[in-house]
Amino acid sequence: MIRLNMTPVILYMVLHLLQTAWSGPAIPRVVWEYGEVSLVKFSETGVSNYSTLLLNEDRGVLYIGAQEAIFAVKMTDISNKTSEVYWKVTERKQKACAAKGKSRETECLNYIRILHEFNNESLYVCGTYAFQPTCDYLSIKNFTLQGRQEEGKGKCPFDPAQRYTSVMVDGELYSGTVYNFLGSETVILRSHLRTEYAIPWLNEPSFVYSDVIRESESSLDGGDDKVYFFFTEVSVEYEFNSELLVPRVARVCKGDLGGSRILQKRWTSFLKAKLICTLPESNFVFNVIQDVFILKTPNWKETVFYGVFTSQWSNLEVSAVCAFNMSKVEDVFSKGKYMQSATFEYSHVKWVRYNGQVPTPRPGSCINNEARTLNVNNSLMLPDKTLQFVKDHPLMADPVKPIGNRPTLVKKNANYIQIVVDRVRALDKKLYDVMFVGTDKGLLHKATNYGNEMHIIEELQIFPDSEPVLTLLLSKGDKKNLYAGSHSGVVQVPVAFCEKYRTCMDCILARDPYCAWNPQNKICTWITKEDTHESNLVQSLNGTAAACRAEDVESASTEEYKVKPEGFQELKCLPMSRLAKVTWKLNNKALSENSKYRVVQNNLLFSVTEEDSGTYDCWTVETVKGRQYEQLVKRYSLIVEGPTKVLTTSPTAPFTKMEGNSATTQTSTDKERRSPHTVTSQIQTGVFTSTVSYTSTPTFTISTSLISRVDAEGVSEPSTAERNDGVLLTLFVVIMLLFLMLVSYNCYMKYLPSPCLKLRMYIVSDGKKPEFDSDVSEELVKQQAVKMNSDNKGSEQIAAGDRGYETESDCGNGKIPNTEKPQELKQIEENHSIGSIDIEKDADIPDIKFIDEEAQSLC
Ligand SMILES: *[C@@H]1O[C@H](CO)[C@@H](O)[C@H](O)[C@H]1NC(C)=O
Ligand SMILES: *[C@@H]1O[C@H](CO)[C@@H](O)[C@H](O)[C@H]1NC(C)=O
Ligand SMILES: *[C@@H]1O[C@H](CO)[C@@H](O)[C@H](O)[C@H]1NC(C)=O
Ligand SMILES: *[C@@H]1O[C@H](CO)[C@@H](O)[C@H](O)[C@H]1NC(C)=O
Ligand SMILES: *[C@@H]1O[C@H](CO)[C@@H](O)[C@H](O)[C@H]1NC(C)=O
Ligand SMILES: *[C@@H]1O[C@H](CO)[C@@H](O)[C@H](O)[C@H]1NC(C)=O
Ligand SMILES: *[C@@H]1O[C@H](CO)[C@@H](O)[C@H](O)[C@H]1NC(C)=O
Repeated sequence: MIRLNMTPVILYMVLHLLQTAWSGPAIPRVVWEYGEVSLVKFSETGVSNYSTLLLNEDRGVLYIGAQEAIFAVKMTDISNKTSEVYWKVTERKQKACAAKGKSRETECLNYIRILHEFNNESLYVCGTYAFQPTCDYLSIKNFTLQGRQEEGKGKCPFDPAQRYTSVMVDGELYSGTVYNFLGSETVILRSHLRTEYAIPWLNEPSFVYSDVIRESESSLDGGDDKVYFFFTEVSVEYEFNSELLVPRVARVCKGDLGGSRILQKRWTSFLKAKLICTLPESNFVFNVIQDVFILKTPNWKETVFYGVFTSQWSNLEVSAVCAFNMSKVEDVFSKGKYMQSATFEYSHVKWVRYNGQVPTPRPGSCINNEARTLNVNNSLMLPDKTLQFVKDHPLMADPVKPIGNRPTLVKKNANYIQIVVDRVRALDKKLYDVMFVGTDKGLLHKATNYGNEMHIIEELQIFPDSEPVLTLLLSKGDKKNLYAGSHSGVVQVPVAFCEKYRTCMDCILARDPYCAWNPQNKICTWITKEDTHESNLVQSLNGTAAACRAEDVESASTEEYKVKPEGFQELKCLPMSRLAKVTWKLNNKALSENSKYRVVQNNLLFSVTEEDSGTYDCWTVETVKGRQYEQLVKRYSLIVEGPTKVLTTSPTAPFTKMEGNSATTQTSTDKERRSPHTVTSQIQTGVFTSTVSYTSTPTFTISTSLISRVDAEGVSEPSTAERNDGVLLTLFVVIMLLFLMLVSYNCYMKYLPSPCLKLRMYIVSDGKKPEFDSDVSEELVKQQAVKMNSDNKGSEQIAAGDRGYETESDCGNGKIPNTEKPQELKQIEENHSIGSIDIEKDADIPDIKFIDEEAQSLC
C-alpha cells in the first residue's frame, strides 16, 4: 500500500499540462462586450439572487425564483412581468436563525431554491426560509401561495450557499441536498426513501444536477424509469494525502419502494460510478463536475449528456466539457463490476474491484422482467442477500468514459459552471450539438466540436459586472432563447447573432450552425426550418469559404484623412475575428514592422512625414483547416498636407489618432503640466508598461507614445532655436525638478504623508477598474513593483497607452521607475503578440489606476 504524495503529482500534472495541452486554440472567434449586442433583462429593485428558473413554453412563461420573491415574466420578452409574489420570512424565524449564529441580513432570508411544475394548476416552491427549509404550492392562476407549508428538510438546502439539485417526476420530488442544519448529513431523497448515511454511499457530495430518463418507454426487458444524479464527492477509492474529489453519476429507479427488512426506507437501487474527463495526452484530470445538460432523445439509448468540469486545484483556471453516452452509463450499472472495501493491516480500508459471486436478482438493478420471473414484483420483495450486497457495494468499479475518450472542449483562463446544449440541424441536413457554457465571470461561450476540432464561435458578456452565471436554460421553440440567472438579474439571450456578421467571409468563417449567407440580399441570416429543404443560402461548417465571391471579400469601406506631417498616426483596424492575423499594406505593398511602423493591437502606428500619403489597407488572414482566407477590413486614404515640422519644446508631442470616422488631435493635458514627472501607461491585452520620463538635456520632453521609443529622434530632439530660449527655462526646470524630487522623497518616506496622498489621489483620475485576464499582466505588475523599488537613475523614453495616450502623475515617491532595458519592452511586446493567441480578452484594457494602486501601496 503506497500512499502517494499529492504535491509532486499535481505539480507534474500542471507543468505537463501547460506544456502540452494548449496546442489547440480554443479562442473565441468573436467577442461581444457587454452592450454590444442587445439583450432583454429582468430585475426588480430591492430583489437579488435570481438563481432559480423554470420555463413553461406552453404558457409562454418564465418563472423566476429570487430572494424572497417569485416572478412570472413573458418568455418572449422577460422584461414584461406578468405576476409576482413575495414570500418573506417572519420576524420570529429570522430572530431564531440569527440566534443560531447565522447572518440576519443575508443568510436568514428566504432564498427560493426549488420551482417545479406540480400539476397544471400549481407550482411546487421551496425556499431556505432562514435556515429552516420550507415548501409550498403556488397557484398559477392567481399567483398566490396556498399556505400549505411543508417541511423542506432534505428537499431544499438550509444554507443558501450550498449546492443542491432536484427534479419533479410524475408529481414526486427527487432531491439531492443536506438533511440537517449543520450540513453533515447529505441525502438523495424521495419522500420517505433516502440514501444511507454512510461514507460509501455519499461522502461530502456537492450536487449539481438530476433528471429522469424514461427508459421504460422503449424497454424490452420491462425496465423502469431512472433518475440520474450528478455530483462531486470525496473519493473513497483513491488514497492521497489530501482529499481527492471525484465526479460521479448515480441513479435510482423510479419504482423503488425500499427494502422490507434490510434497507427499509432506503433506496435499493442506488448505484454510482465515476465519470472520467481527462486530457489523454497530458493526463490532466478534470475532477470537479460543475453542471450537466442531458440532451434527451426519443430513444433513450441515444441520449448524450454533457458535463462541464473544472479541476480541484482551482488556482488553475481550466475547464473542460465532456460528452457521455447514456447507454454506456447504463452498461456500467447493469453489467459492470462492483467495488468492495477490504480491511488491511492497521484497520486501514482500501477499495478494490470485487470479483466474487454476485447474488440474484442483480443488486441495485431496477425491477425488470427477469426479476419478475424470480417472483420479485417490487423492491420490497428483494431477497436479503441482494439488499445486503447493494448496501455494501454502491460504487461501481468501471468508470464512465467520455465519447471519443477525450473532452469535447478544453478552455484555459475560464471557469465553466453552467451548460446547455442545443442540437441544431444545419443546411447540410446534419445535426450539430451547440454548447452554451456560462462562466463564473458572467461570460457565455458558444462552441461546437467539428470532428475533434474545438471551435468557440462566440464569447458574450451577459452581465455587466463579472458575476457568475447561476442558471442557464434553453427554450425549445422556434425562436430559441437562452435564459441566464445571476445575483443581479436575469437576461434573455438569442442563440445567435447572425445579422452581426456583415460580410460573406465573416458569416461563413463564423461556422455557426444557426447562420447562413444570403448572396442575393448580402446578409447573414438565421436558418429557418424551410431553409434546410431548399435554398440558395450558403453555409459551410467545415470552414470552406470558397463560396464567397471576390466583391464580398473586398467590401471594406474607405476612409479619407487629411493630416499634417507631424506627430503620430494611429490607423485603427478592428477585425471581427480574433483568429485572424492582421497585415497592413501601403499602396498594396505589405508593410513590415521596422523603425518607422509599428503594429500594436492590430493598429498601425507611425510618425508622419510628407512622403506618407497613400492608401493604407488593413487585411486579415484567417486560416481554417490549412486554407487561408484574406479579407480587407479597412482602407484609409491618407493625404499629408504642408511641410514637415520639427517637434518639441512643448512638453508633449502632439499626435493624431484615428478611429472610425474621427481624427482627433490631443495635446498635453493639464495633468501632464502639473509635474514633469509623468507616468505614462500602455496597457493592451493584459500587457502594460509604465515609466516616468524626463530628459537630462536642457529641454525636457515627455513623450506620450510608444512610437517615441521606436522613432525617438524625430520626436524628442529639440530644435536649435528653441534650445536658445530654453536655457533659462532649463534652469528653472532643473530647480523645480530638484524641489519636486525633494517633496516626493519626503512624501515617499512618509514625512508628509497625508498631503502627499491627497495630492496623488487628486491627480489620479478615476478609471475603469482593472481587469486582468492573463498571468502576463500580473507578472508585469510584479516587475513593475520591483522596478519602482530598485531603479532610480537614468531617464528613458516611455511607452504610452494606446488608448487615448493618457498620462498620469507619479505617486511622487521620488523614486523614478524607468525601463532601462529596451529588451524588456521588447519582451513585453513579444508577450503581447503571444498574448494575441493565448489571451482571449483583447478588449480588456486595464486602466492606469491599477498601476497607481500598485504604486500607492509602494508609496
Ligand atoms: C406585456 O404583455 C402584455 C400581454 O401580452 C401586453 O399587453 C403589454 O403591452 C406588454 N407590455 C410591454 C411593456 O411590453
Ligand atoms: C388539469 O389536469 C386535470 C387532470 O389532471 C384536467 O382534468 C384539467 O382539465 C386540466 N386543466 C387544464 C386547465 O388544463
Ligand atoms: C387562488 O386560487 C386557488 C385555486 O387555484 C384558490 O384555492 C385560492 O383561494 C385563490 N387565492 C386567492 C387569494 O384568490
Ligand atoms: C446574493 O446576491 C449577492 C449580490 O447581490 C451576493 O453577494 C450573495 O452572495 C448572494 N447570496 C446568495 C446566497 O446567493
Ligand atoms: C452510444 O452507445 C450506443 C450503444 O453502445 C451506440 O449505439 C450509440 O451510437 C452511442 N452514441 C454515441 C453518440 O456515441
Ligand atoms: C407478481 O405479479 C404477478 C403478476 O403481476 C403475480 O402473478 C404474482 O403472484 C406476483 N407475485 C407475488 C409474490 O406477489
Ligand atoms: C465543406 O462544406 C461545403 C458545403 O457544406 C462542401 O461543399 C464542401 O465539399 C465541404 N468540404 C470538405 C473538405 O468537406
